[in-house]
Amino acid sequence: LSADKYNVRRKAFASIQARDVDYFKSVLGEERVLTDEADVLPFNIDWIKNCRGQSSVVLKPKTTQEVSNILSYCNQRKLAVCPQGGNTGLVGGSVPVFDEIVINFMLMNKIISLDDVSGALTCEAGCILENLDNYAREHNLIMPLDLGAKGTCHIGGNVSTNAGGVRLLRYGNLHGSILGVEAVKADGTIIDCLKALKKDNTGYHLKHLFIGSEGTLGLVTKVAIHCPVKPKAVTVGFFGVENFDNILQLYKSAKSSLGEILSAFEMADNGAISTTSKNLKLPNPISDYPFYVLVETQGSNEVHDEEKLTKFLSKEMESGLILDGTVTSEPAKMNTIWTLRESISGAGLARGYVFKYDVSLPQQNYYDLVPILRERLGDKAIGVYGYGHIGDGNIHINITVPEYSKEIASLMEPFIFEEVAKLKGSISAEHGIGFRKPQYMHYSKDESSLQMMRDLKNLMDPNGILNPYKVLPEVNV
Ligand code: FAD
Ligand code: MLT
Ligand code: ZN
Repeated sequence: LSADKYNVRRKAFASIQARDVDYFKSVLGEERVLTDEADVLPFNIDWIKNCRGQSSVVLKPKTTQEVSNILSYCNQRKLAVCPQGGNTGLVGGSVPVFDEIVINFMLMNKIISLDDVSGALTCEAGCILENLDNYAREHNLIMPLDLGAKGTCHIGGNVSTNAGGVRLLRYGNLHGSILGVEAVKADGTIIDCLKALKKDNTGYHLKHLFIGSEGTLGLVTKVAIHCPVKPKAVTVGFFGVENFDNILQLYKSAKSSLGEILSAFEMADNGAISTTSKNLKLPNPISDYPFYVLVETQGSNEVHDEEKLTKFLSKEMESGLILDGTVTSEPAKMNTIWTLRESISGAGLARGYVFKYDVSLPQQNYYDLVPILRERLGDKAIGVYGYGHIGDGNIHINITVPEYSKEIASLMEPFIFEEVAKLKGSISAEHGIGFRKPQYMHYSKDESSLQMMRDLKNLMDPNGILNPYKVLPEVNV
């Protein structure tokens, strides 16, 4: 259980009673209130199987009004809640810690409108990202974000975590793409900021409070998002590289050679790719190299774009920055390469437990922590590997171990965060703070910023019922 593992004490919320369940059933009907232990169990466990809560009730609203009724009731009764989307979050934010009521958005999955002139798509929070992308593609548009969890994660979860992903380099983060949000405050008040406008400077930009606040300030019920035009041509290159410095040189060169068509620039070290290829039996289209780079272009001219990337490959093979590589515009081949990259996340879990760190660092120092951690852990770890969105300065460091151990955790934490702070990085680049990192927030935020976060929390959720134990550090910890 999360509470024992991380030594957290339950706060003085009310405990759920039979009359509360009766009320929820009166709002949602019998079948959308889960109370059977076996039915509730999967909603208590996170994707990485590190956190486990003790909730006995899962609610599945279908409308914003239902969410509002539930919250207004919970706020009066001082019952804590845990909002949940696709439950693919990697920091334990999407599952309860104690008996918080799970409010899952899976049934709020309607697409409301798509304006194929402006590209504004408006939908409910529980729409699965991949479904939205497929729908947008039918209208010659795409979703501006893409991540390995796309088949499961919800747009409401993406907004609540300000998810990054593999194409942030090109389309920016959700603070730019989200046009509007509808959300419900802790007391049940519905905040309608669901404009589908590109420009709207009418006072405070309230929607941004819900982007990245991980369900601690309000529940996102609807989203309007800007979809870029579907590129006519997509090309992917996968390259073997000798050392990390060469990756940096290659990145500089890719920006100048591929300019406006560059849509992703990802890296992975040998450990990341070989573990994924071996554990999940996935093919690697080139042989064994110390590092790998995945470059994607999205543009409007197939011949021209593929030629550009092929020229880039031959130029950089000549310069020695690339040892070997492949370039393809064939959907099946591009898919093989992307699948290998996007499967790194889950590959280590096939053989035990994975400690995951997701940090931002200056690009020059991007890979510094991997050798340091390898030395620090020695043979206590099965593997320490680094990969991620190097174009955005965001590295994921995975440490695979046979099983979770407090000893290994204490060797790494707070050590890794101290190192990140020394390099003026961020302790969470894109996964968020959730349940697992609030006590380390001070490595990335000063005391006055933390106080402002607490003030905002008190204003919007004075009883603290929304996703307690998450994001905000306890005072004096
Ligand atoms: P959940 O996991 O259910 O919830 C995440 C947080 O948001 C929780 O705090 C939850 O309480 C809150 N929340 C969820 N829905 C709502 C709502 N409607 N209103 C208010 N709060 C809500 N993340 C990246 O940023 N980039 C990546 O490249 C990436 N790749 C991934 C690859 C894999 C294989 C996996 C498993 C995860 C990956 N993630 C990545 C992490 C995760 O997928 C994202 O954080 C995603 O945005 C979470 O969406 P979700 O619907 O699963 O949210
Ligand atoms: C990724 O880029 O693959 C993700 O953020 C997921 C992860 O690091 O586990
Ligand atoms: Zn990532």
